[in-house]
Amino acid sequence: MAIPFISAQEAAEHIKHGDNVGFSGFTASGTPKVVTEALAEKAVKEHEQGHEFKINIFTGASTNDHVDGALARANAINMRTPYQSSADLRKRLNAHDAHYFDLHLSELAQKLRYGVFGKLNVAIIEAADIDDNGEIILGTGMGIAPTIAMLAEKVIVELNEALPKSIRGLHDVYLPADPPYRREIPVYKASDRIGSPVLKVDPAKIVGIVKTNAKDGVKSFTEPDETTMLIGQNVCNFLLNELRAGRLPKSFLPMQSGVGNVANAVLHGLGEVDEIPQFDMYTEVIQDSVAELMKKGKCRFASTCSMTFSDAMMDEVLANMDFFHDKILIRPGEISNNPEIVRRLGLITMNTALEADIFGNINSTHVLGTKMMNGIGGSGDFTRNGYLSIFSCPSITKGGLISNIVPMVSHLDHSEHSVDALITDQGIADLRAKDPVQRAETIIENCVHPDYKQLLWDYLKLGKGGQTPHTLNAALAFHTEFAASGDMRNTDWSKFA
Ligand code: COA
Repeated sequence: MAIPFISAQEAAEHIKHGDNVGFSGFTASGTPKVVTEALAEKAVKEHEQGHEFKINIFTGASTNDHVDGALARANAINMRTPYQSSADLRKRLNAHDAHYFDLHLSELAQKLRYGVFGKLNVAIIEAADIDDNGEIILGTGMGIAPTIAMLAEKVIVELNEALPKSIRGLHDVYLPADPPYRREIPVYKASDRIGSPVLKVDPAKIVGIVKTNAKDGVKSFTEPDETTMLIGQNVCNFLLNELRAGRLPKSFLPMQSGVGNVANAVLHGLGEVDEIPQFDMYTEVIQDSVAELMKKGKCRFASTCSMTFSDAMMDEVLANMDFFHDKILIRPGEISNNPEIVRRLGLITMNTALEADIFGNINSTHVLGTKMMNGIGGSGDFTRNGYLSIFSCPSITKGGLISNIVPMVSHLDHSEHSVDALITDQGIADLRAKDPVQRAETIIENCVHPDYKQLLWDYLKLGKGGQTPHTLNAALAFHTEFAASGDMRNTDWSKFA
């Protein structure tokens, strides 16, 4: 029996208050685009009639404005996991209008299968193609699609006619067995294909297909500013030095990089250095810089969970599938971010901190200790298991009112045990084989902005000993000073002496 075509409004009628709803995709790439707009309208009408209407949302990572934005504005989200980056949803989370379970991205699919969240009522999956047997060619990002397609009682497919059929073959759909039956995941190099190019869904569960031709809508990157360029150069210099010192194999190692301008600047920088050999990426997102490196022949292969290309770059890549086909594999998040594979392949991991402390602990999620920014994302999956784990951030923020290096982080995402190097626009702190005081000395000397150097040297002197010589009543003084005067530079240690 043919699967029916339905409207976004008809599809939204399948979703009830309190439902657990899973979405394909990772970032805006491969994320559904139309059913949630209809669902947001439905939620607003329900609220106007005095009815409750909120759903629980499960995704691979962040989504797009059609999902997190529209549903947050409609106040239609009860629980959200594992990651988001929407300004509208951020307001809801921080007001506890929506409950946010910030989770390592590699863990969500298995937690869904383990039953942590109860039944999955609906899965909404973007497809480039589908046949009546329920064989789906996914879009530009996969996320948790294989798991939600298996678990959901009902599946809604958004067929995106803007995606060419030639995208077939880019996906590697694989579901690991769950404990106690799990075996090793047989990825021994970034390019190893282990699964199927298609996602198979029981056609009896597919309630309808909604047509769309909307693009992912990823914006082009702005030109990197001076700080970003300096961080990028410092990361490149650090990696070059590791290569020259023989601590990285001559053939180099696969790279993981976070999203954003710093990651783009680093990758661009590596592309410019002849001494860096051709390399692979084993990562969760690839941005425009990776496509450029492929064109240059510098990046050989990228294993990813999504192609988060700007619309312009996506058009170019999709129009040149002959060139890109054997250079990219899109995998589920639990494979792209799998700790076992990250450790086996020996990844060079590069992630971003909001703040770091002088002992090497990292806060990637909470602005000034309380307000959620985005979430931990895949940073923990990679950092904890990488061959070489690098964190970077600017040395100062808000024109110097905030130092990104503080005495003690106001929230902890990655501990001192998982961070090999901290890099800012000021320089590089290699933290390996150093005790906490040696780490503090290296970070203050190399990474801290001149406005804050003496303050942090003085904080270190304030300590009365111990492996990690904190002065507990002063450890968060930068933050309390910012709350009081709006400038961390006004911190006065004499109050704590
Ligand atoms: N204290 C207070 N505010 C701070 C701050 C600090 N220490 N550091 C940055 N900010 C502010 C900035 O001023 C900026 O404010 P604005 O929005 O008002 O301009 C905002 O926080 C974002 O800072 P920015 O430097 O632009 O961040 P970014 O785009 O480089 O992102 C993270 C940095 C940490 C938020 C981002 O990388 C992230 O979400 N990481 C976790 C997820 C992850 O690592 N995933 C793995 C790989 S994809």
